[in-house]
Amino acid sequence: MTRKTPAAQRKILVTSALPYANGSIHLGHLVEYIQTDIWVRFQKMRGHECWYVCADDTHGTPIMLRAEKEGIRPEQLIDRVWHEHKRDFDGFLIGFDNYYSTNSPENREFASRIYLKLREAGLIERRSIEQFYDPEKAMFLPDRFIKGTCPKCGAKDQYGDSCEACGATYAPTDLIDPYSAVSGAKPVRKASEHYFFTLGKCEAFLKDWTRSGRLQAEAANKMDEWFSAGLADWDISRDAPYFGFEIPEAPGKYFYVWLDAPVGYMASFKKLCDDKGLDFDEYWKPDSTAELYHFIGKDILYFHALFWPAMLAFSGHRTPSAVFAHGFLTVNGQKMSKSRGTFITAESYLKHLNPEWLRYYYAAKLSNTMEDIDLNLEDFTARVNADLIGKFINIASRSAGFIAKRFGGQLGQVPAGQELLARMQQAAGDIAGLYESREYGRALREVMALADLANQYVDSHKPWEIAKQAGREAELHEVCTVAINAFRLLALYLKPVLPKLAENVERFLDIAPLKWSDAGHLLSGHTIREYKHLMTRIDPKQIEAMIEENKQTLVPAPTPEPHSQQRHAEHQQQSAKTEAESPVINIDDFGKVDLRIAKIVNAEQVEGAEKLLKLTLDIGSGTRTVFAGIKSAYKPEDLIGRLTVMVANLAPRKMKFGVSEGMVLAASDERGGPFLLAPDSGAQPGMRVK
Ligand code: MSP
Ligand code: ZN
Repeated sequence: MTRKTPAAQRKILVTSALPYANGSIHLGHLVEYIQTDIWVRFQKMRGHECWYVCADDTHGTPIMLRAEKEGIRPEQLIDRVWHEHKRDFDGFLIGFDNYYSTNSPENREFASRIYLKLREAGLIERRSIEQFYDPEKAMFLPDRFIKGTCPKCGAKDQYGDSCEACGATYAPTDLIDPYSAVSGAKPVRKASEHYFFTLGKCEAFLKDWTRSGRLQAEAANKMDEWFSAGLADWDISRDAPYFGFEIPEAPGKYFYVWLDAPVGYMASFKKLCDDKGLDFDEYWKPDSTAELYHFIGKDILYFHALFWPAMLAFSGHRTPSAVFAHGFLTVNGQKMSKSRGTFITAESYLKHLNPEWLRYYYAAKLSNTMEDIDLNLEDFTARVNADLIGKFINIASRSAGFIAKRFGGQLGQVPAGQELLARMQQAAGDIAGLYESREYGRALREVMALADLANQYVDSHKPWEIAKQAGREAELHEVCTVAINAFRLLALYLKPVLPKLAENVERFLDIAPLKWSDAGHLLSGHTIREYKHLMTRIDPKQIEAMIEENKQTLVPAPTPEPHSQQRHAEHQQQSAKTEAESPVINIDDFGKVDLRIAKIVNAEQVEGAEKLLKLTLDIGSGTRTVFAGIKSAYKPEDLIGRLTVMVANLAPRKMKFGVSEGMVLAASDERGGPFLLAPDSGAQPGMRVK
């Protein structure tokens, strides 16, 4: 076997976006952490010096208010959440070299230093702006904490940046009858001095940077749109009270959370350097030859492809080698939903399912584009069971027993030029190329094609038959030795995705941790350990149990998410918001839904409910009570007497305001709604709709 000379060792620093400390890790987040972790593990297997750092993103108004609500200090809240996040990431085998917090001394130091450099470079301006202020809470209100009536469609109780009923985006000052979501008070307009980062002055640099091949094609296109729209100054300060870092020489002014968040990448790495004795500057100095990569979701591209490189370049640092943006997760073809039970937390997944199943499934679906990826739970079960158990594990389970029982656990010799293994070894370069370019789906298809070949080999040599025939010991030994070697190569190629499984294979084979270069040799005459089953199949019952657990029986209280949804109204990606089409169902599936014509015999307001009306529906056989989220579009008195369509066999749901015994049908999307369905005249209450 010729051994390739290893390429020069690279120095690589990798990050994933820092999750907010005001929520739990869910399966959407994990697309990113799993994608990044696979890449890092691959680089480490290649023998490169590769570091993976991350941290909790801890600052901002929502965290401050949540802590207040819980009656604790923000520091206590973020400490608790840090432990929860760390537990979840460990559970999914995310191998951070350091998991830190943006509320760290290192981060305060770096954020201040970078700010002062930007100021020196003439990129910070001060000016007074007028904003909404909550006189009761004595605080300025971020857009998401102001509610009111949509100026476009008139829907009530909409957030200050966008309308959920009609999809319009606007400034909070455009709202009709605004009120504070914190105290309910009527906000007043108040002026205050803010600090701005003049991004426009960095335009020439940013255009160069964007066109130097550091972004995916789709991201570079997005940038061009932003350039032609013009780069607006970025408001980087917030007034007290705010949980964050005070701006140097600006008492009572704090860095906006997004200013110190990416600096958190540096801070986390600095802590790692201090712990491990690494040279921080080697990675961050302007002429650094080390590589720096940020894995992010497409929703935060603006921050990572514009603000962050500009902040770095104009404060005397290197800029990222590349920013890798991924798409959003859908579950069963739709946005994750609390009522459907598909807003699945990491914690609840781990209670019911094996993390490596999800790692494998995501990897099989991931490419290097910004396309959304779908977790289809049926496909997930079928795919994992077929590939991992049926194709991969199966090879070991069918050959290991003979090695143990008939040959004292010792492998035989691999014949020179053995075709299957030669072919499998030759694939190492291609598979590595696919991992390197983040084409995991294609990498795994190659690996599974090799697994198919290995299974064909075993099927055609039938060791279980040879074993029954006298005088064919040598043949049996050879076939099983080849199969075990094939299994070892597959485990090696899958190791970035399935690190725990690979570790168990290493123990079973009694070998040192597999490196990529180990594909260059095979095992002959080596003694292996007893085979113990390495992975079980997914039982659909486990998935049902998980979904059940994630189903929220109460209408989810709309909690403001100031950053995740509407980070930069005009730059928001639409694709994540529009509902994808549902997967195909058959007529029997449809038949399970009992749709009936219903007459609205009563409709009334629900005390304390923002979106609901209480309907009493006559469906011929009796009446039903249904709480419907249509308050924004209908007055109760206009509904009484109307006919509509209801789902009559929906399990009753206990809600905060009472039990809802079904659901009425209405249409909506970003163009408007909800629009209640109505039958043509002649339909009678109780008629089945089919
Ligand atoms: N705190 C910011 C990032 C600061 S980085 C300096 C943030 N936090 S987040 O918790 O909302 O998201 C963390 C990462 O997870 C982001 O890259 C985001 O795109 C990603 N995802 C969150 N939900 C997601 C899906 N449903 N699907 C795929 N990725 C998603 O943004
Ligand atoms: Zn509207």
